[in-house]
Amino acid sequence: MERRQDRREQMDELAAAIRECRRCPLWKDARHAVPGEGNIDAQLLFVGEAPGQREDLTGRPFVGRAGALLEELLAGIGLSRGDVFIANIVKHRPPGNRDPRESEVAACTPYLERQIRLIGPAIIATLGRHSSRYILSKVPVDFERITDIRGRIYAAEVFGRAVRIIPTVHPAAALYNPRYRAMLEEDFRTIEEEIRRLPDTAATPHSQG
Ligand code: URA
Repeated sequence: MERRQDRREQMDELAAAIRECRRCPLWKDARHAVPGEGNIDAQLLFVGEAPGQREDLTGRPFVGRAGALLEELLAGIGLSRGDVFIANIVKHRPPGNRDPRESEVAACTPYLERQIRLIGPAIIATLGRHSSRYILSKVPVDFERITDIRGRIYAAEVFGRAVRIIPTVHPAAALYNPRYRAMLEEDFRTIEEEIRRLPDTAATPHSQG
C-alpha cells in the first residue's frame, strides 16, 4: 500500500475535487459538499446514503440526529468517529432529503470507489437500502428489503480488496422506530465480532507509514 502521507494527500485532493464537482445537478441546491471524513487507516468504513440538512450546512457526514445515534452505537462497541471512516454514496444533499436518483449515484460513486481504494478497509458497513444496494452490487447480491439482508456478512472483493460487507438499517430509520434501533444494536455487535476476528485486532492501525 502507498505511504500514509501520500494517501492523506490524495484523500485531500479528492475532497477538493468533490467540493468542485458538477457531474450531476445536486450541487446547485447544496450549501456544502460532504466528501466524508475519518481515519484513512481505518479497518472499518461506514457508507451512508447522502448528506441531510445539518451535513449540508457543515460539510461533515452524520452530524445530525442520525449521526448522534451512529456515535452512540460506535461508543457501544468501544469506537469513536476518529477510529473509522464515514462516507456517503452521494456527496451533495438531494433537495428535501429525497432519495438519490440512479443517475446521481452513478455520477458520484467513482469518488467512493477512490476512497475505498485509498483507505483499504477490511470491513464495510453499509447504512440503509441505497448504500447497501450499491456496495452489494459488487458482490453481486440483489435484495428487496434491507431487513432481509441486514446483519449478514458478505465476503467479497470490492475494488481490488478483500472485504467483509455488513449491511444494516439506516440510523435515521431507528430514530423513531425501536425495532430498527434493536436491529442496529445487533448488527453493531456483529461488526464488533468481525473486528475482533481481523488478523490485526486493532480497528485503527495508527502506526502505519
Ligand atoms: N444520512 C446519511 O445517509 N448520511 C449522512 O451523512 C447523514 C445522514
